Amino acid sequence: MSAMEVLKTKGELWNWIGSRRSRARTLVPTMGALHRGHASLFDLAREKTPDGDVVATIFVNPAQFGPNEDFDAYPRQLEADLATCDRHGVDAVFTPAEGEMYQADASISIHEDEISEGLCGLSRDGHFDGVCTVVAKLFNLTQPHAAVFGEKDFQQLAVIRRLVRDLDFPIDIVGAPTVREEDGLALSSRNAYLSVKQREQAPVIFRTLSRVAKQIALSECETPVDARESLVEEMDSVSESRIDYVAVVDSETLEPLAEFGNSAPRLIVAVFFGKTRLIDNVGISENVSDRQ
Ligand code: PAJ
Repeated sequence: MSAMEVLKTKGELWNWIGSRRSRARTLVPTMGALHRGHASLFDLAREKTPDGDVVATIFVNPAQFGPNEDFDAYPRQLEADLATCDRHGVDAVFTPAEGEMYQADASISIHEDEISEGLCGLSRDGHFDGVCTVVAKLFNLTQPHAAVFGEKDFQQLAVIRRLVRDLDFPIDIVGAPTVREEDGLALSSRNAYLSVKQREQAPVIFRTLSRVAKQIALSECETPVDARESLVEEMDSVSESRIDYVAVVDSETLEPLAEFGNSAPRLIVAVFFGKTRLIDNVGISENVSDRQ
């Protein structure tokens, strides 16, 4: 097995791709500060690409952060991240500087007009434009046949599926399950911002999502409105939490559901603990291990 390549410029990336032209390639885009959640994406990419290459990208994308968000504070730890990539079978890491990715007078960006409007889109104006634009650029640069994204960022995953569908990227989008701490808190680079007390209370998010998902699966919750009320009540019950949104949506369109019917519901939330905004979501059946 050859050593992992670290590619810092588009030129280096193009040369590397040129030398591996006939090989299948799976992309895993990240912003670094890698944890076990990211590592699980590398493992899944490796599994899905036994005879090809896994390419990771590490780039903290300024275009997807709002003016009052944590772009400057976002953790940067390239050496440790490269070691993580290497341990998880990544063949090449593309880690460009900001000037390498964006022209100073760049004048084109990609806007998704439906799925990105609600939920995180409401409180993060322009966020999904930044995500769509950088992901499209990363697709063009790395030319993968498949790309892996986490279900942790469920709205992002849905938006990216639209991006490849509507702009005809010949790329298979693979969703990966959320990796959690033992107490259920979804792993996130932003968990590091939590105080001790906030960290103690944050598991309320997954505890509540799991409880309500189970009630829905067991038909103990009649309507999406009941489900939402129950979610809100429990998430609000700890002193440090402040709800940004709580929604019961269709898994594909992310539209709020009026009734359960034959839909595939997704429970999806964003909750502030102090200034730290945590997101999480669950589907229904996956959480009901004791269903008969
Ligand atoms: P980042 O937050 O670094 O996440 C990179 C990928 O890791 C995303 O697909 C995300 O869903 C996934 N991920 C994060 N936490 C996870 C967890 N606990 N379990 C499983 N997967 C997890 O998402 C981004 O970066 C950016 O928006 C990006 C797509 C790279 C574009 O800049």
